[in-house]
Amino acid sequence: MLEIKNLKKTFQGGVEALRGVDLKVNKGEFLSILGPSGSGKTTLLRSINGLENIDSGEIFFESEKINKIYLPQVQKKTGMIFQEFNLINNLSAINNVLTGLLNSTSKFLSMFYLFTKEQKLQALKALETVGLLDKAYNRADELSGGQRQRVGIARAIIKKPTLLLADEPVASLDPKAADLIMSLLKKINKEFKITVVCNLHQVGLASQYSDRIVGLLDGAIMFDNLPSNINKTIIDQIYK
Ligand SMILES: Nc1ncnc2c1ncn2[C@@H]1O[C@H](COP(=O)(O)OP(=O)(O)OP(=O)(O)O)[C@@H](O)[C@H]1O
Ligand SMILES: [Mg+2]
Repeated sequence: MLEIKNLKKTFQGGVEALRGVDLKVNKGEFLSILGPSGSGKTTLLRSINGLENIDSGEIFFESEKINKIYLPQVQKKTGMIFQEFNLINNLSAINNVLTGLLNSTSKFLSMFYLFTKEQKLQALKALETVGLLDKAYNRADELSGGQRQRVGIARAIIKKPTLLLADEPVASLDPKAADLIMSLLKKINKEFKITVVCNLHQVGLASQYSDRIVGLLDGAIMFDNLPSNINKTIIDQIYK
């Protein structure tokens, strides 16, 4: 469903964040990307949905090459989940979820009054999926880290994406909350057949939840393998 060809990105100042990445992601797959800090994981995810301009290379989304004209459609079909949740603190959980229906250029929060009953029901359904229906009208800042990330997931799935990009979704959580979030992503992946690409730091979580694991170091892919084949020698290629 996703094919990345020879993707390169150098930031101002000369940091080569991506040095010719080739990667295929199959439909329905749960792919994890492991790599030390600064290896280019976030840049890679942000390049896929156009949050980062790429220098060269091509990205195909559902067999069609992403360009300026196709990008808005790609963004519509892609949900994103962040390490720091990126919720609006003084809004309720349900209103945070509803922001997932606004396109990225829409800045008017007054839009909330324009959401239809149908859309509000959709938001409640998304909160039910993540097990947070009872917190729908709590403010985001009244929720725990794990609950906040569940709102983040509900916000990402409300628009029924075909691809979920998760950038270290559990890095700010304790191990128990991290497990719950990973299980939830896996459930969403399987039940709704949403392809997941997930940046992680924990080898254990990647092995437990992924269909495939890619190792990134200094903007280059060092390995691409099944969890059952991942061993210390392979992992040492990225964590030296
Ligand atoms: N906006 C930017 N301007 C300049 N350099 C940047 C920018 N964003 C990222 N970089 C650099 O690009 C490289 C890759 O960064 P990136 O954030 O993709 O790494 P990462 O693997 O996500 O790291 P982490 O695990 O810490 O999140 C790093 O050297 C980083 O300093
Ligand atoms: Mg990152």
